[in-house]
Amino acid sequence: MQIKAKIIGVGHALGEDVLTNSDLEKMVETNDEWIVERTGIRERRIAKADTYTSDLAYRASREALEDAGLSPMDLDLIIVATVTPDFLTPAVSCIVQAKLGADRAAAYDINQACTGLVGGLTMAQQFIENGKYRHILVVGADALSKVTDYKDRKTCILFGDGAGAVVVSRNEDPDDDSRIVAAKIGAVGSLGHNLTLPFLRMDEEEKAKRVSKDLHSLWMDGSEVFKFAVRIMAEAVKETLADVGMTVDDIDLLIPHQANTRIIDGAVKRIKINPDKVFVNLPKYGNMSAASIGVALKEAIDEGRVKRGDTIVLVGFGGGLTWGCTILKW
Ligand code: COA
Repeated sequence: MQIKAKIIGVGHALGEDVLTNSDLEKMVETNDEWIVERTGIRERRIAKADTYTSDLAYRASREALEDAGLSPMDLDLIIVATVTPDFLTPAVSCIVQAKLGADRAAAYDINQACTGLVGGLTMAQQFIENGKYRHILVVGADALSKVTDYKDRKTCILFGDGAGAVVVSRNEDPDDDSRIVAAKIGAVGSLGHNLTLPFLRMDEEEKAKRVSKDLHSLWMDGSEVFKFAVRIMAEAVKETLADVGMTVDDIDLLIPHQANTRIIDGAVKRIKINPDKVFVNLPKYGNMSAASIGVALKEAIDEGRVKRGDTIVLVGFGGGLTWGCTILKW
């Protein structure tokens, strides 16, 4: 019998402080009207100075395990998707494993930027369906505020901090059709130069791009990423649906990466889906990178927008540049 991989628990965490558009007006030359019109964002959640990505990931993981009714020792594997790890080593997933006391679990991090949670789900589906593992924790967590250049008005208005976590487990019940139906990921490395966050590579070209000349900050060509995002989210949804013989009409709820309402609107038009079926919480949080989709999924569930038997589609894009789409039967 085909083993199915099913999400059985979801959790989230947010940065403790609120950064509003009027706060940003005091930091760079910008205004609320411009930010709302061009991005849809009104406020973001920012982690305190001593709150790191692993802390957000841990909080979201605890909530997801509780929701799943599992104990940390049930976990076989922890995957954390992040581009803002506390350390390069140990991985955030290893820190979370230790804090949870999930001693049986293997752990590693992945880097697909904002696509990360979808990337982690793709791996979890494989490990469950091939029979290797029974319970996998997938976390998307980022504290982008720690690598944001707050002198650069083109980027500092966009980002916030958070974590979303899901527990993916083996579903062997023939009467329960809940599962990950399809997962597809991709990359367009030739466009990667449009969004950079250096680690060892500290060259003059990278330095010159940054307003504060701080190489530990994220730089982005917003309009290039914008064009990529609208195109790739639409293509990813259409292709992933086609792979499993489904159409846009089968979708009950679409949860896109929350980067910019104009990007979401553009993709929604191309996908030709009713905007009422699209979940958006971006105005409250901004772009939380790998955390966005997980936090949105959790809120959609809490708001009663995800019902048993529904088809839920998650779609993301991000640095790399990367993209990914997951179809869930809830
Ligand atoms: N406040 C006021 N004016 C601003 C501004 C701000 N915060 N940021 C930029 N501007 C100005 C620019 O300097 C420019 O002025 P100029 O024409 O005098 O040079 C003008 O507004 C237009 O800038 P532009 O960059 O073309 O705006 P845009 O419509 O492309 O919006 C982004 C900028 C960043 C909001 C948009 O490109 C975007 O959202 N891109 C995708 C980013 C993203 O999602 N990245 C995450 C990847 S996961």
